[in-house]
Amino acid sequence: MQNFSYYNPTRLVFGRGVETQVGSVVSEIVGPEAKVLVIYGGGSAKRSGLLDAVHASLEAAGIVVLEKGGVQPNPRMCFVRETVDWVRDQGVRAIIAVGGGSVIDTAKAVAVGVEYEGDCWDFFEGKAKVEKALPVFAVLTIPAAGSEQSTRCVITHHGTKTGIGTELIRPRAAFINPERFATLPAWQIGAGLVDMCSHIMERYFSKTDATEYVDGQCEAALRTIMASGLKVYNDPSDYDAWCQVGLAGSFAHNGYFGLGREEDWACHAIEHEISGWREEITHGAGLAVVIPAWMHYVSGFEPARFVQFAVNVMGVEPREDDAETIRLGIAKFAAWTQSVGMPGTLAALGAEDCPIEALARHCCRAGTVGHLKPLNVDDVAAILTGAAGN
Ligand code: NZQ
Ligand code: ZN
Repeated sequence: MQNFSYYNPTRLVFGRGVETQVGSVVSEIVGPEAKVLVIYGGGSAKRSGLLDAVHASLEAAGIVVLEKGGVQPNPRMCFVRETVDWVRDQGVRAIIAVGGGSVIDTAKAVAVGVEYEGDCWDFFEGKAKVEKALPVFAVLTIPAAGSEQSTRCVITHHGTKTGIGTELIRPRAAFINPERFATLPAWQIGAGLVDMCSHIMERYFSKTDATEYVDGQCEAALRTIMASGLKVYNDPSDYDAWCQVGLAGSFAHNGYFGLGREEDWACHAIEHEISGWREEITHGAGLAVVIPAWMHYVSGFEPARFVQFAVNVMGVEPREDDAETIRLGIAKFAAWTQSVGMPGTLAALGAEDCPIEALARHCCRAGTVGHLKPLNVDDVAAILTGAAGN
């Protein structure tokens, strides 16, 4: 196991009705009578009444609220710039996201943009380092991206979807009321489930040895997400199952499952090429297509880990031939993604025309991606080709 230093300061406020606590927690952290900016998406939080509840809670705590809606899935830089220009001189002391990963990531980008004199795309291009950010808070409406506890922020600009990572943007508090997930469309439920599994798998598939404790935690979380995920997919009113999914999905990306090990992240790098190329593609759906193809391609380089996954996570009876055990594990995982409505191929994703060579070159523009097996342009192209015909 590798050395590590872990500190996760996100306060997690979890359960029925927790949106009523937003005002008291925010005022405790940023001070009373502050002015804040609330950001939301295309309208689901408005229609459900959540936005009004958050607003009421903030005002009851004496906080002055500015509001801006309209964040689209796969959030764009132009919206971030427009929002930064609007709030820059308004004395805002915190940004509050009411939504999913797209809204939270927009809030994070605005939080760093307001504190920077230049154009905040500089951070995403690696031209500047984040040194300051307004505090970010997240009221979660979809368990998926894990941004409510993560140090990451992913934004798309002119076909390039890329992220920044810094402790400065890890939300100060995350409010998760699983009752709010009942209105999610089936497609978003399935995509969210695959995304949170992937956040664990990007850490679990590692060459680092002597990691039994965290391995076991990863395996239990994956089994829970798959079992409870199937329940909420089939019955979105199942509050108890949503609690398991909401909690596991939020921890999936707060760094805990990567403690002491080298992480991979090749599947995310490849998927971001797909949803950067075509912005209508949902991140989790893209992952559902990429992950099995990646597993087929790399499992031979670390077979023991893939046997462990097949047996401990997917419940495969070990075969004499490890390759067969691995193949069954991958097939069971792919079947589970399809049981929650996700596509199995690029064609089913609506990406049969994706320019494989160009995406592979763009994916590796800064060098190889992934660590379990570092992938070059040819490897990424081979994985995407495998995904086309899975
Ligand atoms: O915009 P509204 O109207 O709110 O509708 C949203 C949106 O259309 C809808 N929705 C959300 N909560 C709902 C709801 N509909 C009904 N009832 C509710 N309770 O769901 C749609 C998708 O929302 P989005 O925020 O895009 O989903 P998600 O949380 O999956 O976020 C995806 C984004 O996060 C990035 C992805 O790349 C993608 O851009 N990621 C961010 C990460 C991070 N910051 O740490 C890590 C991830 O790996 C990921 O890359
Ligand atoms: Zn993800």
